[in-house]
Amino acid sequence: QSSFRILVLPGDGVGPEVMEQAVRILKHVEAQSDTHFDLEYALAGGCAIDAHGTPLLDETMERARASHAVLFGSVGGPKWEGLGFNLRPEIAILRLRKELNLFANLRPATLFTPLIDASTLKPEVIGGLDLMIVRECAGGLYFGEPRGIETLRNGDKRGFNTETYSTQEIERVGRVAFQLASDRRNQVCSVEKANVTESGLVWREVMSALHAREFPDVTLRHMYADNCAMQLVRAPRQFDVIVTGNMFGDILSDLASMLTGSLGMLPSATIGATKAELFNPAIYEPIHGSAPDIAGKGIANPMAQILSVAMMLRLSLGMPKQAAQVEQACIDALAAGARTPDLGGDFCTEQVGNAILAQLERLTSSAV
Ligand code: NAD
Ligand code: IPM
Ligand code: MN
Repeated sequence: QSSFRILVLPGDGVGPEVMEQAVRILKHVEAQSDTHFDLEYALAGGCAIDAHGTPLLDETMERARASHAVLFGSVGGPKWEGLGFNLRPEIAILRLRKELNLFANLRPATLFTPLIDASTLKPEVIGGLDLMIVRECAGGLYFGEPRGIETLRNGDKRGFNTETYSTQEIERVGRVAFQLASDRRNQVCSVEKANVTESGLVWREVMSALHAREFPDVTLRHMYADNCAMQLVRAPRQFDVIVTGNMFGDILSDLASMLTGSLGMLPSATIGATKAELFNPAIYEPIHGSAPDIAGKGIANPMAQILSVAMMLRLSLGMPKQAAQVEQACIDALAAGARTPDLGGDFCTEQVGNAILAQLERLTSSAV
Protein backbone atom coordinates (compact mmCIF):
# COMPACT_ATOMS: atom_id res chain seq x y z
CA GLN A 1 0.00 0.00 0.00
CA SER A 2 1.42 3.38 -0.97
CA SER A 3 1.13 6.36 1.31
CA PHE A 4 1.33 10.06 0.53
CA ARG A 5 1.95 12.98 2.87
CA ILE A 6 -0.33 15.89 2.06
CA LEU A 7 -0.08 19.20 3.90
CA VAL A 8 -3.47 20.93 4.03
CA LEU A 9 -3.42 24.72 4.48
CA PRO A 10 -7.04 25.99 4.36
CA GLY A 11 -6.10 29.62 5.10
CA ASP A 12 -8.61 32.45 5.52
CA GLY A 13 -12.05 33.56 4.37
CA VAL A 14 -13.70 31.03 2.07
CA GLY A 15 -10.50 28.93 2.10
CA PRO A 16 -11.63 26.65 4.97
CA GLU A 17 -15.17 26.47 3.51
CA VAL A 18 -14.09 25.15 0.12
CA MET A 19 -11.29 23.05 1.62
CA GLU A 20 -13.79 21.12 3.75
CA GLN A 21 -15.53 19.92 0.58
CA ALA A 22 -12.25 19.17 -1.17
CA VAL A 23 -11.12 16.97 1.73
CA ARG A 24 -14.42 15.05 1.61
CA ILE A 25 -13.69 14.25 -2.04
CA LEU A 26 -10.09 13.30 -1.24
CA LYS A 27 -11.26 10.93 1.52
CA HIS A 28 -13.68 9.28 -0.86
CA VAL A 29 -10.86 8.70 -3.36
CA GLU A 30 -8.74 7.25 -0.56
CA ALA A 31 -11.49 4.88 0.55
CA GLN A 32 -11.91 3.57 -3.01
CA SER A 33 -8.20 2.90 -3.53
CA ASP A 34 -5.38 1.02 -1.83
CA THR A 35 -3.57 4.31 -1.21
CA HIS A 36 -3.28 6.06 2.12
CA PHE A 37 -3.37 9.84 2.37
CA ASP A 38 -1.64 11.15 5.45
CA LEU A 39 -3.32 14.56 5.86
CA GLU A 40 -1.60 17.10 8.09
CA TYR A 41 -3.23 20.46 8.78
CA ALA A 42 -1.52 23.75 9.54
CA LEU A 43 -2.31 27.46 9.68
CA ALA A 44 -1.21 29.80 6.91
CA GLY A 45 -2.01 33.43 6.18
CA GLY A 46 -4.07 35.71 8.42
CA CYS A 47 -5.08 32.89 10.77
CA ALA A 48 -1.38 32.10 11.32
CA ILE A 49 -0.67 35.78 12.01
CA ASP A 50 -3.41 35.76 14.65
CA ALA A 51 -2.18 32.52 16.26
CA HIS A 52 1.59 32.76 15.85
CA GLY A 53 2.39 36.33 14.79
CA THR A 54 3.68 35.22 11.39
CA PRO A 55 1.89 34.20 8.16
CA LEU A 56 3.88 30.97 7.86
CA LEU A 57 5.85 29.26 10.63
CA ASP A 58 9.27 27.88 9.63
CA GLU A 59 7.98 24.58 10.94
CA THR A 60 5.10 24.69 8.44
CA MET A 61 7.60 25.47 5.67
CA GLU A 62 9.59 22.39 6.66
CA ARG A 63 6.46 20.27 6.71
CA ALA A 64 5.66 21.47 3.19
CA ARG A 65 9.14 20.50 2.06
CA ALA A 66 8.67 17.01 3.49
CA SER A 67 5.26 16.50 1.86
CA HIS A 68 4.37 14.96 -1.48
CA ALA A 69 1.92 17.80 -2.07
CA VAL A 70 0.50 20.89 -0.43
CA LEU A 71 -3.22 21.54 -0.77
CA PHE A 72 -3.66 25.28 -0.33
CA GLY A 73 -6.90 27.25 0.14
CA SER A 74 -6.63 31.03 0.08
CA VAL A 75 -5.21 33.70 2.34
CA GLY A 76 -5.78 37.35 3.14
CA GLY A 77 -8.60 39.69 4.04
CA PRO A 78 -9.43 43.20 5.21
CA LYS A 79 -8.45 42.42 8.80
CA TRP A 80 -4.76 42.21 7.86
CA GLU A 81 -4.58 44.87 5.17
CA GLY A 82 -2.77 47.45 7.31
CA LEU A 83 0.25 45.22 8.00
CA GLY A 84 3.69 45.75 6.47
CA PHE A 85 4.51 43.73 3.39
CA ASN A 86 6.65 41.08 5.05
CA LEU A 87 3.93 40.47 7.63
CA ARG A 88 0.94 40.16 5.36
CA PRO A 89 -1.06 36.93 4.92
CA GLU A 90 -0.16 36.79 1.20
CA ILE A 91 3.48 36.17 2.19
CA ALA A 92 2.44 32.60 3.11
CA ILE A 93 1.78 31.55 -0.48
CA LEU A 94 4.57 33.67 -1.96
CA ARG A 95 7.10 32.13 0.44
CA LEU A 96 5.90 28.58 -0.22
CA ARG A 97 6.26 29.05 -3.99
CA LYS A 98 9.65 30.75 -3.69
CA GLU A 99 11.30 28.57 -1.06
CA LEU A 100 10.10 25.30 -2.57
CA ASN A 101 11.49 26.64 -5.88
CA LEU A 102 8.13 26.10 -7.60
CA PHE A 103 8.41 28.37 -10.59
CA ALA A 104 5.56 27.33 -12.88
CA ASN A 105 1.91 27.83 -12.00
CA LEU A 106 -0.37 25.89 -14.35
CA ARG A 107 -3.83 27.45 -14.64
CA PRO A 108 -6.13 25.58 -16.99
CA ALA A 109 -9.23 27.37 -18.25
CA THR A 110 -11.60 24.72 -19.54
CA LEU A 111 -15.21 25.33 -20.41
CA PHE A 112 -17.37 22.54 -19.01
CA THR A 113 -20.24 22.07 -21.45
CA PRO A 114 -23.01 22.41 -18.81
CA LEU A 115 -21.70 25.93 -18.12
CA ILE A 116 -21.93 27.19 -21.68
CA ASP A 117 -24.64 29.63 -20.62
CA ALA A 118 -23.02 30.63 -17.31
CA SER A 119 -20.31 32.79 -18.83
CA THR A 120 -20.89 36.45 -19.63
CA LEU A 121 -19.56 35.66 -23.11
CA LYS A 122 -21.53 34.20 -26.01
CA PRO A 123 -21.67 30.39 -26.32
CA GLU A 124 -20.20 30.50 -29.85
CA VAL A 125 -17.13 32.33 -28.49
CA ILE A 126 -16.36 29.99 -25.59
CA GLY A 127 -17.76 26.59 -26.66
CA GLY A 128 -15.01 23.96 -26.43
CA LEU A 129 -12.55 26.34 -24.77
CA ASP A 130 -9.48 24.52 -23.42
CA LEU A 131 -6.49 26.71 -22.72
CA MET A 132 -3.59 26.48 -20.30
CA ILE A 133 -1.89 29.49 -18.78
CA VAL A 134 1.63 28.82 -17.56
CA ARG A 135 2.45 31.62 -15.17
CA GLU A 136 6.02 32.13 -13.98
CA CYS A 137 5.62 32.45 -10.22
CA ALA A 138 9.00 32.60 -8.48
CA GLY A 139 10.34 35.78 -10.04
CA GLY A 140 9.41 38.89 -11.98
CA LEU A 141 7.76 41.94 -10.45
CA TYR A 142 6.76 40.01 -7.33
CA PHE A 143 10.32 39.34 -6.19
CA GLY A 144 12.62 41.74 -8.09
CA GLU A 145 15.02 44.02 -6.19
CA PRO A 146 15.17 46.87 -5.46
CA ARG A 147 11.73 47.29 -4.01
CA GLY A 148 10.37 49.42 -1.24
CA ILE A 149 8.76 52.65 -0.14
CA GLU A 150 10.84 55.74 0.42
CA THR A 151 10.01 59.23 1.59
CA LEU A 152 11.23 62.02 -0.64
CA ARG A 153 12.71 65.28 0.68
CA ASN A 154 9.44 67.11 0.05
CA GLY A 155 7.63 64.52 2.17
CA ASP A 156 6.06 62.68 -0.77
CA LYS A 157 6.16 58.91 -0.76
CA ARG A 158 7.58 56.82 -3.59
CA GLY A 159 6.83 53.12 -3.96
CA PHE A 160 9.00 51.09 -6.33
CA ASN A 161 9.30 47.54 -7.64
CA THR A 162 11.51 45.93 -10.23
CA GLU A 163 10.72 43.34 -12.85
CA THR A 164 13.69 41.11 -13.60
CA TYR A 165 13.88 37.95 -15.70
CA SER A 166 17.08 36.07 -16.44
CA THR A 167 17.77 33.56 -19.21
CA GLN A 168 17.65 30.67 -16.76
CA GLU A 169 14.33 31.76 -15.21
CA ILE A 170 12.72 32.15 -18.63
CA GLU A 171 14.09 28.91 -20.05
CA ARG A 172 12.83 26.74 -17.20
CA VAL A 173 9.26 28.01 -17.37
CA GLY A 174 9.42 28.08 -21.17
CA ARG A 175 10.30 24.37 -21.23
CA VAL A 176 7.25 23.62 -19.09
CA ALA A 177 5.06 25.44 -21.61
CA PHE A 178 6.57 23.73 -24.67
CA GLN A 179 6.36 20.29 -23.02
CA LEU A 180 2.71 20.85 -22.14
CA ALA A 181 1.91 22.10 -25.66
CA SER A 182 3.49 19.04 -27.25
CA ASP A 183 0.94 16.89 -25.39
CA ARG A 184 -1.89 19.25 -26.38
CA ARG A 185 -2.42 21.24 -29.62
CA ASN A 186 1.25 22.08 -30.08
CA GLN A 187 0.95 25.87 -29.84
CA VAL A 188 2.61 28.25 -27.41
CA CYS A 189 1.83 31.95 -27.17
CA SER A 190 4.46 33.85 -25.18
CA VAL A 191 3.17 37.05 -23.61
CA GLU A 192 5.14 40.10 -22.40
CA LYS A 193 5.64 43.80 -23.08
CA ALA A 194 8.84 43.59 -25.12
CA ASN A 195 7.90 46.93 -26.68
CA VAL A 196 8.22 48.72 -23.34
CA THR A 197 10.33 46.75 -20.84
CA GLU A 198 13.81 45.26 -20.96
CA SER A 199 12.63 42.25 -18.96
CA GLY A 200 9.99 41.69 -21.64
CA LEU A 201 12.53 41.99 -24.43
CA VAL A 202 14.85 39.43 -22.83
CA TRP A 203 11.83 37.19 -22.26
CA ARG A 204 10.97 37.32 -25.98
CA GLU A 205 14.56 36.69 -27.13
CA VAL A 206 15.09 33.77 -24.76
CA MET A 207 11.77 32.17 -25.71
CA SER A 208 12.65 32.42 -29.42
CA ALA A 209 16.09 30.90 -28.92
CA LEU A 210 14.71 28.10 -26.71
CA HIS A 211 12.07 27.35 -29.31
CA ALA A 212 14.58 27.15 -32.17
CA ARG A 213 17.01 25.04 -30.18
CA GLU A 214 14.79 22.57 -28.31
CA PHE A 215 11.18 22.71 -29.54
CA PRO A 216 11.13 23.51 -33.29
CA ASP A 217 8.07 21.27 -33.78
CA VAL A 218 5.88 23.41 -31.53
CA THR A 219 4.41 26.59 -33.02
CA LEU A 220 5.50 29.69 -31.12
CA ARG A 221 3.86 33.12 -31.30
CA HIS A 222 4.71 36.25 -29.34
CA MET A 223 2.04 38.66 -28.17
CA TYR A 224 1.99 41.85 -26.13
CA ALA A 225 0.08 41.48 -22.88
CA ASP A 226 -2.45 44.21 -23.62
CA ASN A 227 -3.36 42.61 -26.94
CA CYS A 228 -3.54 39.21 -25.23
CA ALA A 229 -6.14 40.51 -22.75
CA MET A 230 -8.22 41.74 -25.68
CA GLN A 231 -7.76 38.52 -27.71
CA LEU A 232 -8.81 36.39 -24.72
CA VAL A 233 -12.18 38.11 -24.72
CA ARG A 234 -12.52 38.39 -28.52
CA ALA A 235 -11.53 34.88 -29.59
CA PRO A 236 -10.18 32.79 -26.70
CA ARG A 237 -10.08 29.50 -28.63
CA GLN A 238 -7.12 30.73 -30.68
CA PHE A 239 -4.94 29.85 -27.65
CA ASP A 240 -3.54 26.51 -26.60
CA VAL A 241 -0.75 27.26 -24.07
CA ILE A 242 -0.02 30.81 -22.93
CA VAL A 243 3.28 31.35 -21.11
CA THR A 244 3.89 34.61 -19.30
CA GLY A 245 5.50 36.29 -16.30
CA ASN A 246 4.25 36.51 -12.76
CA MET A 247 2.14 39.68 -12.86
CA PHE A 248 0.62 39.28 -16.34
CA GLY A 249 -0.12 35.63 -15.53
CA ASP A 250 -1.97 36.65 -12.39
CA ILE A 251 -4.16 39.13 -14.25
CA LEU A 252 -4.77 37.12 -17.42
CA SER A 253 -5.77 34.01 -15.47
CA ASP A 254 -8.47 35.83 -13.50
CA LEU A 255 -9.70 37.14 -16.85
CA ALA A 256 -9.61 33.65 -18.39
CA SER A 257 -11.55 32.21 -15.46
CA MET A 258 -14.62 34.22 -16.46
CA LEU A 259 -14.58 32.54 -19.87
CA THR A 260 -15.39 29.32 -18.01
CA GLY A 261 -18.24 30.84 -16.02
CA SER A 262 -16.67 31.93 -12.73
CA LEU A 263 -13.46 32.67 -10.88
CA GLY A 264 -14.65 29.90 -8.58
CA MET A 265 -13.98 27.31 -11.31
CA LEU A 266 -10.23 27.63 -11.89
CA PRO A 267 -7.78 25.27 -10.15
CA SER A 268 -4.00 25.44 -10.38
CA ALA A 269 -0.86 23.41 -9.88
CA THR A 270 2.41 25.03 -8.88
CA ILE A 271 5.35 22.88 -9.93
CA GLY A 272 9.13 23.09 -9.83
CA ALA A 273 10.43 20.92 -12.66
CA THR A 274 10.22 20.98 -16.43
CA LYS A 275 9.15 17.40 -16.73
CA ALA A 276 8.82 14.75 -14.08
CA GLU A 277 7.13 11.41 -13.54
CA LEU A 278 5.56 13.00 -10.46
CA PHE A 279 5.98 16.53 -9.14
CA ASN A 280 6.90 16.42 -5.44
CA PRO A 281 6.32 18.59 -3.64
CA ALA A 282 3.95 20.79 -5.57
CA ILE A 283 1.20 23.15 -4.44
CA TYR A 284 -2.43 22.80 -5.50
CA GLU A 285 -4.49 25.95 -5.08
CA PRO A 286 -7.55 27.58 -6.62
CA ILE A 287 -6.64 30.81 -8.40
CA HIS A 288 -9.24 32.79 -6.45
CA GLY A 289 -8.67 34.50 -3.13
CA SER A 290 -10.36 34.46 0.26
CA ALA A 291 -13.46 36.25 -1.13
CA PRO A 292 -14.12 38.40 1.97
CA ASP A 293 -17.42 39.63 0.51
CA ILE A 294 -18.99 36.15 0.75
CA ALA A 295 -16.87 34.53 3.49
CA GLY A 296 -18.89 32.98 6.30
CA LYS A 297 -22.04 32.68 4.21
CA GLY A 298 -21.38 29.12 3.05
CA ILE A 299 -22.00 29.96 -0.60
CA ALA A 300 -18.49 29.90 -2.09
CA ASN A 301 -18.03 27.72 -5.13
CA PRO A 302 -15.87 24.73 -4.07
CA MET A 303 -15.19 23.55 -7.64
CA ALA A 304 -11.79 25.29 -8.04
CA GLN A 305 -10.54 23.69 -4.82
CA ILE A 306 -11.93 20.28 -5.77
CA LEU A 307 -10.48 20.49 -9.29
CA SER A 308 -7.15 21.34 -7.63
CA VAL A 309 -7.44 18.00 -5.83
CA ALA A 310 -7.86 16.37 -9.26
CA MET A 311 -4.69 18.08 -10.50
CA MET A 312 -2.87 16.84 -7.39
CA LEU A 313 -4.03 13.27 -7.98
CA ARG A 314 -2.75 13.43 -11.55
CA LEU A 315 0.51 15.36 -11.18
CA SER A 316 1.81 14.53 -7.70
CA LEU A 317 0.19 11.25 -6.65
CA GLY A 318 0.19 9.27 -9.90
CA MET A 319 -3.57 8.63 -9.85
CA PRO A 320 -4.77 9.83 -13.30
CA LYS A 321 -7.86 7.61 -13.33
CA GLN A 322 -9.10 9.02 -10.03
CA ALA A 323 -8.25 12.55 -11.23
CA ALA A 324 -10.42 12.07 -14.30
CA GLN A 325 -13.24 10.68 -12.15
CA VAL A 326 -13.20 13.73 -9.87
CA GLU A 327 -13.30 16.03 -12.91
CA GLN A 328 -16.13 14.06 -14.46
CA ALA A 329 -18.04 14.15 -11.17
CA CYS A 330 -17.78 17.95 -11.18
CA ILE A 331 -19.10 18.13 -14.75
CA ASP A 332 -21.94 15.73 -13.94
CA ALA A 333 -22.86 17.69 -10.81
CA LEU A 334 -22.98 20.92 -12.85
CA ALA A 335 -25.14 19.20 -15.46
CA ALA A 336 -27.48 18.11 -12.66
CA GLY A 337 -27.83 21.75 -11.61
CA ALA A 338 -25.44 21.91 -8.64
CA ARG A 339 -24.38 25.54 -8.84
CA THR A 340 -23.47 28.20 -6.30
CA PRO A 341 -24.64 31.82 -6.82
CA ASP A 342 -21.51 32.83 -8.77
CA LEU A 343 -22.77 30.42 -11.46
CA GLY A 344 -26.32 31.70 -11.22
CA GLY A 345 -27.50 28.87 -8.96
CA ASP A 346 -28.80 28.70 -5.41
CA PHE A 347 -26.80 25.79 -4.00
CA CYS A 348 -24.65 26.36 -0.96
CA THR A 349 -21.04 25.15 -0.79
CA GLU A 350 -21.91 21.98 1.07
CA GLN A 351 -24.73 21.05 -1.31
CA VAL A 352 -22.33 21.30 -4.24
CA GLY A 353 -19.94 19.07 -2.28
CA ASN A 354 -22.78 16.59 -1.71
CA ALA A 355 -23.67 16.60 -5.40
CA ILE A 356 -20.09 16.00 -6.52
CA LEU A 357 -19.67 13.23 -3.98
CA ALA A 358 -22.89 11.57 -5.17
CA GLN A 359 -21.68 11.69 -8.79
CA LEU A 360 -18.28 10.36 -7.75
CA GLU A 361 -19.90 7.48 -5.89
CA ARG A 362 -21.91 6.66 -8.99
CA LEU A 363 -18.82 6.77 -11.21
CA THR A 364 -16.63 4.71 -8.89
CA SER A 365 -19.23 2.03 -8.22
CA SER A 366 -20.05 1.54 -11.92
CA ALA A 367 -16.38 1.53 -12.99
CA VAL A 368 -15.38 -1.81 -11.46
P1 NAD B 1 -11.00 37.15 -4.58
O1 NAD B 1 -10.51 36.17 -5.58
O2 NAD B 1 -10.95 36.74 -3.17
O3 NAD B 1 -12.49 37.59 -4.93
C1 NAD B 1 -12.85 38.27 -6.12
C2 NAD B 1 -14.36 38.12 -6.35
O4 NAD B 1 -14.62 36.78 -6.78
C3 NAD B 1 -15.21 38.37 -5.12
O5 NAD B 1 -16.41 38.99 -5.49
C4 NAD B 1 -15.47 36.96 -4.61
O6 NAD B 1 -16.66 36.83 -3.88
C5 NAD B 1 -15.52 36.14 -5.89
N1 NAD B 1 -15.06 34.77 -5.64
C6 NAD B 1 -13.79 34.37 -5.43
N2 NAD B 1 -13.74 33.06 -5.19
C7 NAD B 1 -15.00 32.62 -5.26
C8 NAD B 1 -15.60 31.33 -5.08
N3 NAD B 1 -14.87 30.22 -4.80
N4 NAD B 1 -16.93 31.23 -5.22
C9 NAD B 1 -17.67 32.32 -5.51
N5 NAD B 1 -17.18 33.54 -5.68
C10 NAD B 1 -15.84 33.70 -5.55
O7 NAD B 1 -10.13 38.48 -4.82
P2 NAD B 1 -10.06 39.84 -3.95
O8 NAD B 1 -11.39 40.14 -3.39
O9 NAD B 1 -9.38 40.78 -4.81
O10 NAD B 1 -9.06 39.47 -2.77
C11 NAD B 1 -9.49 39.11 -1.46
C12 NAD B 1 -8.29 38.65 -0.63
O11 NAD B 1 -7.80 37.40 -1.15
C13 NAD B 1 -7.10 39.60 -0.68
O12 NAD B 1 -6.55 39.63 0.61
C14 NAD B 1 -6.15 38.95 -1.65
O13 NAD B 1 -4.81 39.29 -1.44
C15 NAD B 1 -6.39 37.51 -1.39
N6 NAD B 1 -6.06 36.58 -2.48
C16 NAD B 1 -5.50 35.41 -2.11
C17 NAD B 1 -5.22 34.44 -3.07
C18 NAD B 1 -4.59 33.17 -2.65
O14 NAD B 1 -4.53 32.88 -1.47
N7 NAD B 1 -4.10 32.34 -3.55
C19 NAD B 1 -5.57 34.68 -4.41
C20 NAD B 1 -6.17 35.89 -4.75
C21 NAD B 1 -6.42 36.85 -3.77
C1 IPM C 1 -2.96 34.28 -6.80
C2 IPM C 1 -3.02 35.43 -5.81
C3 IPM C 1 -1.66 35.66 -5.21
C4 IPM C 1 -0.75 36.13 -6.33
C5 IPM C 1 -1.58 36.64 -4.03
C6 IPM C 1 -2.49 36.26 -2.92
C7 IPM C 1 -0.18 36.75 -3.50
O1 IPM C 1 -3.57 36.56 -6.39
O2 IPM C 1 -2.54 33.18 -6.42
O3 IPM C 1 -3.34 34.48 -7.95
O4 IPM C 1 -0.79 37.31 -6.72
O5 IPM C 1 0.01 35.29 -6.82
MN1 MN D 1 -4.41 36.21 -8.38
